[in-house]
Amino acid sequence: MVEIKGKVAFLTGAAEGWGYEIAMAYARAGMRLALMDVQAEKLHRVADEIKAMGGDCLPIVVDLANAGATQAAAEQALAHYGTPRVLVHNAAVLREVSMLDVQFDNWQREMNIIIQAAFILSKAVWAGMVEAQSGSIVYISSGSGIKGFVKETAYCPGKHAQEGLMKVLSMEGQPFNIAVNTITPGIAIKTPMSASHYTPEQQARWVEPALIAPAFVYLAGLDAKGATGHRLDAWQLSEAMRVAQQS
Ligand SMILES: NC(=O)c1ccc[n+]([C@@H]2O[C@H](COP(=O)([O-])OP(=O)(O)OC[C@H]3O[C@@H](n4cnc5c(N)ncnc54)[C@H](O)[C@@H]3O)[C@@H](O)[C@H]2O)c1
Repeated sequence: MVEIKGKVAFLTGAAEGWGYEIAMAYARAGMRLALMDVQAEKLHRVADEIKAMGGDCLPIVVDLANAGATQAAAEQALAHYGTPRVLVHNAAVLREVSMLDVQFDNWQREMNIIIQAAFILSKAVWAGMVEAQSGSIVYISSGSGIKGFVKETAYCPGKHAQEGLMKVLSMEGQPFNIAVNTITPGIAIKTPMSASHYTPEQQARWVEPALIAPAFVYLAGLDAKGATGHRLDAWQLSEAMRVAQQS
């Protein structure tokens, strides 16, 4: 494991939900952060909170559905911090629309946020990670990355595509010591996305996403000598980290 204090993380979808908790976990671990999100006001509030803790962070307001804007955001982050130790692509949207009702533009927008941005951001950091012979890339997947769900006409194929990209890049990254993994919550979490999609039964047992943020501290220090090419479970990993810290 690589020491992550002072190292750089690029993180998408940091304005709220799980991404916010990942940002805070990284800030507490002493990482320097390029945070990307489309919600300007909320993102700047997160950045202010991190700076008030003495942290170093660059908020980048970007619509990750837009290829040019995503490329520009990656270049801004690279110009400011250089190649990151870890890239976490967390941003996503989930619109439940049947095949009868879905419109191509909406379908494409959702796909772009999930998979086009995963590709553009990974491509932007890849050469630097190859040169460094070290790095970790994480895509936040879902049960929808391996199973089908009615009305997830874009989310489900987008998450499946992230699993596919992870498999290819983990193989290509192995000789350069770059770890590439996906991760799923492993438990029902209380986030804005969940609030609009969970059933009352799921909401009755959801937990704060802060509980599954420690997994990302582990992933930030990972390289291909550790775990690569896996679909990880954030709840299990975070529990393992809590147990390790107590012993
Ligand atoms: N909530 C769950 O139960 C659950 C389950 C499985 C997987 N996931 C995955 O976990 C990740 C985080 O989920 P969450 O529940 O925190 O979601 P959320 O909707 O609460 O937060 C998503 C964040 O992404 C940002 N975002 C959305 N569109 C964007 C765009 N076009 N450009 C830039 N940023 C954009 C939002 O502003 C927000 O800050 C997602 O990848 C999601 O698919 C969530």
